[in-house]
Amino acid sequence: MKTTRSLCSCHTPDGAQLVLHEHDGHYFLRIDGVQLMSTTASASEQTMAELACNGVPASKQRILIGGLGFGFTLRRVLECCAADAIIDIAELLSEVITWNRAHLQAVNGLLLDDPRVRIHLRDVYELLDGKQRYDAILLDVDNSPDALVQTGNARLYNHGGVQRVMAALQPKGRVVYWSAHRDRSFAKVLRRVFKQVECVEAKAYPNAKRFTHTLFVADRD
Ligand SMILES: C[S@@+](CC[C@H](N)C(=O)[O-])C[C@H]1O[C@@H](n2cnc3c(N)ncnc32)[C@H](O)[C@@H]1O
Repeated sequence: MKTTRSLCSCHTPDGAQLVLHEHDGHYFLRIDGVQLMSTTASASEQTMAELACNGVPASKQRILIGGLGFGFTLRRVLECCAADAIIDIAELLSEVITWNRAHLQAVNGLLLDDPRVRIHLRDVYELLDGKQRYDAILLDVDNSPDALVQTGNARLYNHGGVQRVMAALQPKGRVVYWSAHRDRSFAKVLRRVFKQVECVEAKAYPNAKRFTHTLFVADRD
């Protein structure tokens, strides 16, 4: 029988325990026992990247990704962008960056050394200060707007947070938020700030029968 191994763990600022597990060659991130993501299901993270990059300039793209996780979104963004793009990626937990370099090199860990990538050990909210305007912003930091990795992330989904995200976008820029489910109240918050909002259903893995996840896509005028 194949065993599940706990490889390492750390705590979020709120004290929740984040554990990296390995089972049968696949990796799992669990927060207080609840799965945050796994290498068995990365289709929606990649769809997110494709939606975000659709319509960005052909070169010199400037992109912000909130949440490294296992780097699937980063991988697809890099595939979609030109050689002169700059991809800022904000990760809250230093351990997640270390695990990508130590245990997850064969997954996407080596992408952190791509010359286009700038990894910031920061809360993504701090990078949304308007000093840098982005062609696309991708926010995949929580399970959903109502299932947060840290309570502080609530400010990303309220009216002020969404306004902050819009102000950090270039004109015609796009933000995509990942959510495990369709959160109708968050769609309403988005629509109060952005004129164009679409809720796109996404599959967890390519052959999935159902579309289980939601990608909230909002475009700046
Ligand atoms: C679900 S994972 C991201 C998955 C990623 N899209 C992928 O393709 O692998 C969420 C990540 O966001 C990080 N995170 C949570 N809150 C954050 C914040 N406020 N700022 C930056 N990173 C955050 C977590 O530590 C975790 O690494």
